[in-house]
Amino acid sequence: MALLEIRDLCVDYLMQEGSVHAVDHVSLTLEEGSSLGLVGESGSGKSTLGMAILRLLPEKTARVTGSAVFQGEELLTMPESRLRQVRWQELAAVFQKSMNALSPVHRIGSQMADVYRLHHPEADKAACRARVLEVLRQVDLAERVYKLYPHELSGGMMQRVSIALSLINHPRLVIFDEATTALDVITQGQILKEIQRLEKDLGLTRMMITHDISVVATSCTHVAVLYAGRLMEVGPAASVLRSPAHPYTAGLMAAFPSLTGEKKPLQGIPGFLPDLTQTIPGCVFAPRCPYATEACRTAQPPLESIEPGWQAACHHRLREVNNHG
Ligand SMILES: Nc1ncnc2c1ncn2[C@@H]1O[C@H](COP(=O)(O)OP(=O)(O)O)[C@@H](O)[C@H]1O
Ligand SMILES: [Mg+2]
Repeated sequence: MALLEIRDLCVDYLMQEGSVHAVDHVSLTLEEGSSLGLVGESGSGKSTLGMAILRLLPEKTARVTGSAVFQGEELLTMPESRLRQVRWQELAAVFQKSMNALSPVHRIGSQMADVYRLHHPEADKAACRARVLEVLRQVDLAERVYKLYPHELSGGMMQRVSIALSLINHPRLVIFDEATTALDVITQGQILKEIQRLEKDLGLTRMMITHDISVVATSCTHVAVLYAGRLMEVGPAASVLRSPAHPYTAGLMAAFPSLTGEKKPLQGIPGFLPDLTQTIPGCVFAPRCPYATEACRTAQPPLESIEPGWQAACHHRLREVNNHG
């Protein structure tokens, strides 16, 4: 069953110079128990999409349209009172700088207990403490962390505390936005393993926002590739990463050679994101795409099925290019 169903989501930032089309008609489904990696280079609209679902965008400057149904309820039009119950309880988030939300002058444990009490007013001191210790244990942190101050933690410990905090009210879905990006490779690897273990143990569903496609390769069941606010390719991570159908997906993979294990220089994708205040008639990736033809510059390619559950929006899908060439 789908836990989250996003349909035709658009987000425009209303600026004096015009609207920035940050997310452009994106539809995605998150099945219960799956982990979807939302990947794309910086500025692709990943965080905007996550924030729109969490209803954290300022209503005055960000216009959100479309639909995001979570456990059968529409998030985008949900009354504030209901939203307060859903957010952080059923739908939680971990950001790269989540720890900044904690006060530097209070101990980690008491601040976490406060967050728990907010949603469980009936819980007494001992119950709150017990719940905090439980989630600290779940993310592999020692009991002594309860008594520490934020500045006493390493980067890896901080992100573990942030994850523990996101879990404290038993959410069903957790959105991670570049939550492991700032960590060294080894710590990141450990935390990704722990996240996957937690997911199994707690029956969590995860949206993993990252610019690093190797994070998706090591920790996600599904992948959605976003570029300039549009969905380029979506499908099971193993299939998509084995033989990407969209040239942009292939380009992202070439930018992270550790994925294929080949010893070749970092290729990246030459060029820049288009100006998002303009309406682009064709494929948004055409100006940077080595396969682009006239059709790509004039007609926006629709998402087309490659295999069940796997779609790509490209006039010259790579498997066809490869089969004929
Ligand atoms: N508050 C904002 N106001 C105006 N434009 C924004 C704002 N936040 C992000 N943008 C623009 O929206 C686009 C998508 O940004 P973002 O969602 O942060 O991308 P990503 O998370 O993939 O790096 C970018 O062009 C960015 O400059
Ligand atoms: Mg971002």
